[in-house]
Amino acid sequence: MHRHMTKHPLLWSLVTAFLLLILALAAWHANLSTSLPASAIPAAYAPDVKNGKVMYDAGGCISCHRGIGPDMDKPAGGRKLKVPGDVLFPPNITPDRQTGIGAWTQIAFLNALKRGLSPDNNHYIPAFPYTSYAWMKTKDILDLFAYLKTLPPVRNRVEKKPFRLGRFALAFWKWLALPGREFRPVPGKSAQWNRGAYLVLGPGHCAECHTPRNGLMLLNRARWLAGGPHPVEKGKVPSLRNLIGRKRYKDADDIFNALKYGEALGYEDISSGGMGEVQENLSRLPNADLKAIAVYLASLK
Ligand code: HEC
Ligand code: HEC
Repeated sequence: MHRHMTKHPLLWSLVTAFLLLILALAAWHANLSTSLPASAIPAAYAPDVKNGKVMYDAGGCISCHRGIGPDMDKPAGGRKLKVPGDVLFPPNITPDRQTGIGAWTQIAFLNALKRGLSPDNNHYIPAFPYTSYAWMKTKDILDLFAYLKTLPPVRNRVEKKPFRLGRFALAFWKWLALPGREFRPVPGKSAQWNRGAYLVLGPGHCAECHTPRNGLMLLNRARWLAGGPHPVEKGKVPSLRNLIGRKRYKDADDIFNALKYGEALGYEDISSGGMGEVQENLSRLPNADLKAIAVYLASLK
Protein backbone atom coordinates (compact mmCIF):
# COMPACT_ATOMS: atom_id res chain seq x y z
CA MET A 1 0.00 0.00 0.00
CA HIS A 2 1.24 3.48 -0.77
CA ARG A 3 1.98 5.69 2.13
CA HIS A 4 -0.33 8.57 1.11
CA MET A 5 -3.37 6.27 1.15
CA THR A 6 -2.83 5.23 4.72
CA LYS A 7 -2.34 8.86 5.65
CA HIS A 8 -5.71 10.00 4.27
CA PRO A 9 -8.07 8.43 6.82
CA LEU A 10 -6.20 10.17 9.60
CA LEU A 11 -6.29 13.43 7.72
CA TRP A 12 -10.04 13.10 7.18
CA SER A 13 -10.79 12.27 10.77
CA LEU A 14 -8.77 15.32 11.79
CA VAL A 15 -10.72 17.51 9.34
CA THR A 16 -14.02 16.06 10.56
CA ALA A 17 -13.07 16.56 14.19
CA PHE A 18 -12.09 20.14 13.41
CA LEU A 19 -15.39 20.84 11.63
CA LEU A 20 -17.35 19.31 14.51
CA LEU A 21 -15.44 21.51 16.91
CA ILE A 22 -16.30 24.60 14.86
CA LEU A 23 -19.98 23.58 14.76
CA ALA A 24 -20.00 22.95 18.49
CA LEU A 25 -18.40 26.31 19.15
CA ALA A 26 -20.90 28.03 16.84
CA ALA A 27 -23.85 26.37 18.56
CA TRP A 28 -22.40 27.17 21.98
CA HIS A 29 -21.97 30.75 20.85
CA ALA A 30 -25.54 30.89 19.55
CA ASN A 31 -26.75 29.30 22.76
CA LEU A 32 -25.01 31.51 25.24
CA SER A 33 -24.12 34.84 23.84
CA THR A 34 -26.94 36.21 21.74
CA SER A 35 -29.32 37.62 24.36
CA LEU A 36 -29.59 41.38 24.03
CA PRO A 37 -28.25 43.53 26.89
CA ALA A 38 -30.48 46.03 28.69
CA SER A 39 -28.69 48.77 26.76
CA ALA A 40 -30.61 47.61 23.64
CA ILE A 41 -33.55 49.68 25.01
CA PRO A 42 -33.15 53.23 23.65
CA ALA A 43 -32.70 55.71 26.50
CA ALA A 44 -35.24 58.14 25.06
CA TYR A 45 -37.92 55.52 24.44
CA ALA A 46 -41.51 56.71 25.01
CA PRO A 47 -44.28 54.11 24.55
CA ASP A 48 -46.87 54.52 21.78
CA VAL A 49 -49.71 52.17 22.70
CA LYS A 50 -51.63 52.89 19.50
CA ASN A 51 -48.68 51.72 17.43
CA GLY A 52 -48.42 48.70 19.74
CA LYS A 53 -51.99 47.73 18.83
CA VAL A 54 -51.09 47.96 15.13
CA MET A 55 -48.17 45.57 15.73
CA TYR A 56 -50.45 43.24 17.72
CA ASP A 57 -52.93 43.02 14.84
CA ALA A 58 -50.27 42.78 12.15
CA GLY A 59 -48.48 40.13 14.23
CA GLY A 60 -51.59 38.01 14.68
CA CYS A 61 -50.69 37.34 18.32
CA ILE A 62 -54.30 36.55 19.19
CA SER A 63 -54.50 33.75 16.59
CA CYS A 64 -52.14 31.55 18.60
CA HIS A 65 -52.43 33.01 22.10
CA ARG A 66 -56.25 33.15 22.21
CA GLY A 67 -57.74 32.18 25.57
CA ILE A 68 -60.58 29.78 26.23
CA GLY A 69 -64.29 30.51 26.80
CA PRO A 70 -64.87 34.04 28.13
CA ASP A 71 -61.18 34.85 27.51
CA MET A 72 -61.40 34.11 23.78
CA ASP A 73 -60.68 37.68 22.80
CA LYS A 74 -57.69 37.97 25.17
CA PRO A 75 -54.25 36.43 24.65
CA ALA A 76 -54.62 34.25 27.76
CA GLY A 77 -53.27 31.15 26.03
CA GLY A 78 -54.01 27.50 26.59
CA ARG A 79 -55.63 26.68 23.26
CA LYS A 80 -54.35 23.83 21.15
CA LEU A 81 -51.93 24.79 18.36
CA LYS A 82 -51.06 22.17 15.77
CA VAL A 83 -47.43 22.27 14.62
CA PRO A 84 -45.63 19.84 12.31
CA GLY A 85 -45.77 16.49 14.12
CA ASP A 86 -46.87 17.87 17.48
CA VAL A 87 -49.41 19.84 19.47
CA LEU A 88 -48.51 22.88 21.60
CA PHE A 89 -50.36 25.14 24.03
CA PRO A 90 -49.16 28.73 23.54
CA PRO A 91 -48.68 30.56 26.85
CA ASN A 92 -50.58 33.36 28.54
CA ILE A 93 -49.25 36.77 27.41
CA THR A 94 -51.73 38.92 29.32
CA PRO A 95 -50.23 41.12 32.09
CA ASP A 96 -51.09 38.71 34.92
CA ARG A 97 -48.00 38.73 37.15
CA GLN A 98 -48.10 35.06 38.17
CA THR A 99 -49.25 33.26 35.03
CA GLY A 100 -48.75 35.82 32.27
CA ILE A 101 -46.01 38.29 31.40
CA GLY A 102 -46.99 41.01 33.89
CA ALA A 103 -43.67 40.72 35.74
CA TRP A 104 -41.57 40.78 32.56
CA THR A 105 -39.11 43.56 31.81
CA GLN A 106 -38.85 45.27 28.43
CA ILE A 107 -35.55 43.55 27.73
CA ALA A 108 -37.07 40.11 28.46
CA PHE A 109 -39.84 40.80 25.94
CA LEU A 110 -37.35 42.08 23.38
CA ASN A 111 -35.25 38.93 23.76
CA ALA A 112 -38.32 36.72 23.30
CA LEU A 113 -39.30 38.35 20.00
CA LYS A 114 -35.90 39.18 18.58
CA ARG A 115 -33.85 36.22 19.83
CA GLY A 116 -36.37 33.51 20.71
CA LEU A 117 -34.92 33.43 24.23
CA SER A 118 -36.92 33.11 27.43
CA PRO A 119 -36.11 35.12 30.60
CA ASP A 120 -34.20 32.07 31.91
CA ASN A 121 -32.25 31.91 28.63
CA ASN A 122 -34.02 28.89 27.14
CA HIS A 123 -34.78 28.62 23.43
CA TYR A 124 -38.40 28.97 22.41
CA ILE A 125 -39.88 26.50 19.97
CA PRO A 126 -39.95 28.28 16.59
CA ALA A 127 -43.69 27.63 16.22
CA PHE A 128 -43.61 31.03 17.96
CA PRO A 129 -42.57 32.82 14.76
CA TYR A 130 -39.73 34.85 16.26
CA THR A 131 -37.57 34.18 13.19
CA SER A 132 -39.89 36.71 11.49
CA TYR A 133 -40.52 38.99 14.48
CA ALA A 134 -36.73 39.35 14.74
CA TRP A 135 -36.90 41.65 11.70
CA MET A 136 -39.08 44.11 13.68
CA LYS A 137 -37.85 47.47 14.88
CA THR A 138 -37.00 47.59 18.58
CA LYS A 139 -39.40 50.50 19.09
CA ASP A 140 -42.30 48.58 17.51
CA ILE A 141 -41.64 45.61 19.81
CA LEU A 142 -41.53 47.85 22.90
CA ASP A 143 -44.77 49.54 21.80
CA LEU A 144 -46.34 46.09 21.42
CA PHE A 145 -45.21 45.27 24.98
CA ALA A 146 -46.75 48.55 26.21
CA TYR A 147 -50.01 47.65 24.43
CA LEU A 148 -50.12 44.15 25.97
CA LYS A 149 -49.76 45.81 29.40
CA THR A 150 -53.02 47.71 28.79
CA LEU A 151 -55.01 44.48 28.36
CA PRO A 152 -56.93 42.98 31.30
CA PRO A 153 -54.78 40.41 33.14
CA VAL A 154 -56.12 36.86 33.02
CA ARG A 155 -55.01 34.22 35.54
CA ASN A 156 -54.36 31.11 33.48
CA ARG A 157 -51.30 28.93 33.94
CA VAL A 158 -50.20 27.14 30.78
CA GLU A 159 -47.58 24.44 31.24
CA LYS A 160 -44.56 24.63 28.91
CA LYS A 161 -43.70 21.61 26.89
CA PRO A 162 -40.11 20.40 26.51
CA PHE A 163 -38.89 20.53 22.94
CA ARG A 164 -38.13 17.13 21.42
CA LEU A 165 -35.06 18.16 19.42
CA GLY A 166 -33.40 19.62 22.46
CA ARG A 167 -31.71 22.89 23.22
CA PHE A 168 -28.45 22.23 21.45
CA ALA A 169 -29.93 21.38 18.05
CA LEU A 170 -32.31 24.32 18.35
CA ALA A 171 -29.47 26.69 19.20
CA PHE A 172 -27.69 25.69 16.03
CA TRP A 173 -30.85 25.96 13.91
CA LYS A 174 -31.58 29.41 15.32
CA TRP A 175 -28.07 30.48 14.48
CA LEU A 176 -28.89 29.71 10.84
CA ALA A 177 -32.50 30.92 10.86
CA LEU A 178 -32.43 34.21 12.79
CA PRO A 179 -31.79 37.36 10.76
CA GLY A 180 -28.83 39.20 12.20
CA ARG A 181 -30.47 42.61 11.81
CA GLU A 182 -33.69 44.60 11.62
CA PHE A 183 -35.57 45.36 8.42
CA ARG A 184 -33.90 48.04 6.33
CA PRO A 185 -35.92 50.03 3.76
CA VAL A 186 -34.99 49.24 0.17
CA PRO A 187 -33.55 52.38 -1.44
CA GLY A 188 -35.40 53.55 -4.54
CA LYS A 189 -38.73 52.09 -3.39
CA SER A 190 -41.54 54.31 -2.08
CA ALA A 191 -42.22 54.76 1.64
CA GLN A 192 -45.54 52.97 1.10
CA TRP A 193 -43.89 49.95 -0.55
CA ASN A 194 -41.28 49.75 2.21
CA ARG A 195 -43.98 49.94 4.90
CA GLY A 196 -45.77 47.02 3.21
CA ALA A 197 -42.54 45.02 2.85
CA TYR A 198 -41.81 45.59 6.55
CA LEU A 199 -45.27 44.53 7.72
CA VAL A 200 -45.18 41.39 5.56
CA LEU A 201 -41.63 40.36 6.48
CA GLY A 202 -41.58 41.24 10.19
CA PRO A 203 -44.78 41.42 12.24
CA GLY A 204 -47.00 39.84 9.54
CA HIS A 205 -44.72 36.77 9.33
CA CYS A 206 -46.45 35.91 6.04
CA ALA A 207 -43.39 33.97 4.84
CA GLU A 208 -43.74 31.42 7.66
CA CYS A 209 -46.66 29.92 5.70
CA HIS A 210 -46.23 31.31 2.16
CA THR A 211 -42.51 30.49 1.64
CA PRO A 212 -41.49 26.84 1.22
CA ARG A 213 -38.77 25.40 3.48
CA ASN A 214 -35.65 23.44 2.64
CA GLY A 215 -34.48 20.19 4.25
CA LEU A 216 -33.23 22.09 7.30
CA MET A 217 -36.67 23.72 7.77
CA LEU A 218 -35.18 27.07 6.81
CA LEU A 219 -37.18 29.39 4.55
CA ASN A 220 -36.11 28.96 0.94
CA ARG A 221 -35.11 32.51 0.00
CA ALA A 222 -34.99 31.69 -3.70
CA ARG A 223 -38.71 30.89 -3.54
CA TRP A 224 -39.74 33.81 -1.33
CA LEU A 225 -43.55 33.89 -0.85
CA ALA A 226 -43.90 31.50 -3.81
CA GLY A 227 -46.22 29.13 -1.92
CA GLY A 228 -45.74 25.49 -1.08
CA PRO A 229 -46.98 22.71 1.18
CA HIS A 230 -48.99 23.91 4.16
CA PRO A 231 -46.66 23.76 7.19
CA VAL A 232 -49.28 22.03 9.33
CA GLU A 233 -52.43 21.07 7.45
CA LYS A 234 -52.97 19.06 4.30
CA GLY A 235 -52.86 20.91 1.00
CA LYS A 236 -50.90 23.89 -0.21
CA VAL A 237 -50.43 27.51 0.66
CA PRO A 238 -50.84 29.60 -2.51
CA SER A 239 -48.12 31.77 -4.01
CA LEU A 240 -48.24 35.51 -3.35
CA ARG A 241 -46.13 36.22 -6.44
CA ASN A 242 -47.52 37.72 -9.61
CA LEU A 243 -51.05 37.93 -8.16
CA ILE A 244 -52.02 40.54 -10.76
CA GLY A 245 -50.31 38.91 -13.77
CA ARG A 246 -51.94 35.59 -12.91
CA LYS A 247 -55.29 37.45 -12.79
CA ARG A 248 -55.90 36.42 -9.16
CA TYR A 249 -56.65 40.10 -8.46
CA LYS A 250 -57.25 43.15 -10.67
CA ASP A 251 -54.87 45.50 -8.86
CA ALA A 252 -53.57 46.58 -5.45
CA ASP A 253 -57.03 47.93 -4.50
CA ASP A 254 -58.52 44.52 -5.19
CA ILE A 255 -55.90 42.86 -2.92
CA PHE A 256 -56.67 45.51 -0.28
CA ASN A 257 -60.38 44.63 -0.43
CA ALA A 258 -59.61 40.91 -0.16
CA LEU A 259 -57.48 41.47 2.97
CA LYS A 260 -59.92 43.97 4.49
CA TYR A 261 -63.20 42.13 3.87
CA GLY A 262 -62.29 38.52 3.00
CA GLU A 263 -65.21 36.17 2.64
CA ALA A 264 -67.72 38.92 3.45
CA LEU A 265 -67.05 40.39 0.00
CA GLY A 266 -66.77 37.00 -1.69
CA TYR A 267 -62.98 36.61 -1.51
CA GLU A 268 -63.09 32.89 -0.75
CA ASP A 269 -59.39 32.17 -1.32
CA ILE A 270 -58.51 33.91 1.87
CA SER A 271 -60.58 31.92 4.34
CA SER A 272 -59.02 28.53 5.12
CA GLY A 273 -55.83 26.98 6.50
CA GLY A 274 -55.23 29.74 9.05
CA MET A 275 -55.62 32.53 6.49
CA GLY A 276 -59.15 33.33 7.75
CA GLU A 277 -57.74 34.37 11.12
CA VAL A 278 -54.85 36.23 9.46
CA GLN A 279 -57.39 38.16 7.39
CA GLU A 280 -59.53 38.93 10.45
CA ASN A 281 -56.48 40.36 12.25
CA LEU A 282 -55.35 42.31 9.18
CA SER A 283 -58.82 43.82 8.74
CA ARG A 284 -58.24 45.73 12.01
CA LEU A 285 -55.15 47.50 10.68
CA PRO A 286 -55.35 51.18 9.72
CA ASN A 287 -56.33 51.34 6.03
CA ALA A 288 -53.01 53.01 5.14
CA ASP A 289 -51.08 50.01 6.49
CA LEU A 290 -53.29 47.47 4.77
CA LYS A 291 -52.96 49.45 1.55
CA ALA A 292 -49.18 49.36 1.94
CA ILE A 293 -49.29 45.56 2.27
CA ALA A 294 -51.46 45.35 -0.87
CA VAL A 295 -49.08 47.61 -2.82
CA TYR A 296 -46.09 45.50 -1.77
CA LEU A 297 -47.84 42.22 -2.70
CA ALA A 298 -48.97 43.63 -6.06
CA SER A 299 -45.33 44.44 -6.87
CA LEU A 300 -44.09 40.83 -6.45
CA LYS A 301 -43.32 39.29 -9.83
C1 HEC B 1 -48.08 30.78 15.10
C2 HEC B 1 -48.38 30.87 16.51
C3 HEC B 1 -47.89 32.05 17.31
C4 HEC B 1 -48.02 33.39 17.01
C5 HEC B 1 -48.63 34.01 15.76
C6 HEC B 1 -47.48 34.11 18.13
N1 HEC B 1 -47.01 33.24 19.07
FE1 HEC B 1 -46.17 33.75 20.84
N2 HEC B 1 -45.79 31.79 21.22
C7 HEC B 1 -46.24 30.73 20.47
C8 HEC B 1 -45.82 29.49 21.10
C9 HEC B 1 -46.12 28.07 20.60
C10 HEC B 1 -45.08 29.84 22.24
C11 HEC B 1 -44.40 28.90 23.23
C12 HEC B 1 -43.01 28.55 22.74
C13 HEC B 1 -42.30 27.58 23.64
O1 HEC B 1 -42.93 27.04 24.57
O2 HEC B 1 -41.09 27.34 23.44
C14 HEC B 1 -45.09 31.31 22.28
C15 HEC B 1 -44.47 32.05 23.27
C16 HEC B 1 -44.54 33.42 23.38
C17 HEC B 1 -43.94 34.19 24.44
C18 HEC B 1 -43.17 33.63 25.65
C19 HEC B 1 -44.08 33.60 26.83
C20 HEC B 1 -43.54 32.88 28.05
O3 HEC B 1 -44.28 32.75 29.02
O4 HEC B 1 -42.38 32.44 28.05
C21 HEC B 1 -44.20 35.51 24.19
C22 HEC B 1 -43.79 36.72 25.04
C23 HEC B 1 -44.98 35.56 22.98
N3 HEC B 1 -45.16 34.27 22.51
C24 HEC B 1 -45.46 36.72 22.44
C25 HEC B 1 -46.10 36.78 21.20
C26 HEC B 1 -46.49 38.01 20.56
C27 HEC B 1 -46.33 39.39 21.16
C28 HEC B 1 -47.05 37.66 19.36
C29 HEC B 1 -47.57 38.58 18.27
C30 HEC B 1 -46.62 39.57 17.77
C31 HEC B 1 -47.00 36.21 19.27
N4 HEC B 1 -46.43 35.71 20.41
C32 HEC B 1 -47.45 35.49 18.20
C33 HEC B 1 -46.96 30.81 19.30
C34 HEC B 1 -47.26 31.98 18.62
C1 HEC C 1 -51.02 30.25 9.02
C2 HEC C 1 -50.50 30.26 7.67
C3 HEC C 1 -50.62 31.57 6.89
C4 HEC C 1 -50.08 32.80 7.23
C5 HEC C 1 -49.29 33.19 8.48
C6 HEC C 1 -50.44 33.70 6.15
N1 HEC C 1 -51.16 33.03 5.21
FE1 HEC C 1 -51.98 33.84 3.50
N2 HEC C 1 -52.83 32.07 3.06
C7 HEC C 1 -52.69 30.90 3.78
C8 HEC C 1 -53.51 29.87 3.15
C9 HEC C 1 -53.65 28.43 3.63
C10 HEC C 1 -54.16 30.46 2.05
C11 HEC C 1 -55.18 29.81 1.12
C12 HEC C 1 -56.56 30.01 1.74
C13 HEC C 1 -57.72 29.49 0.93
O1 HEC C 1 -57.51 29.09 -0.21
O2 HEC C 1 -58.84 29.55 1.47
C14 HEC C 1 -53.70 31.84 2.01
C15 HEC C 1 -54.10 32.76 1.05
C16 HEC C 1 -53.65 34.06 0.94
C17 HEC C 1 -54.00 34.99 -0.10
C18 HEC C 1 -54.89 34.69 -1.32
C19 HEC C 1 -54.02 34.23 -2.48
C20 HEC C 1 -54.80 34.00 -3.74
O3 HEC C 1 -54.23 33.38 -4.66
O4 HEC C 1 -55.95 34.42 -3.84
C21 HEC C 1 -53.35 36.18 0.15
C22 HEC C 1 -53.41 37.46 -0.66
C23 HEC C 1 -52.61 35.98 1.37
N3 HEC C 1 -52.79 34.69 1.83
C24 HEC C 1 -51.83 36.95 1.98
C25 HEC C 1 -51.16 36.79 3.20
C26 HEC C 1 -50.46 37.84 3.88
C27 HEC C 1 -50.31 39.26 3.38
C28 HEC C 1 -49.98 37.29 5.04
C29 HEC C 1 -49.19 37.98 6.14
C30 HEC C 1 -49.79 39.16 6.71
C31 HEC C 1 -50.38 35.89 5.07
N4 HEC C 1 -51.10 35.63 3.94
C32 HEC C 1 -50.08 35.03 6.11
C33 HEC C 1 -51.92 30.71 4.92
C34 HEC C 1 -51.29 31.73 5.61
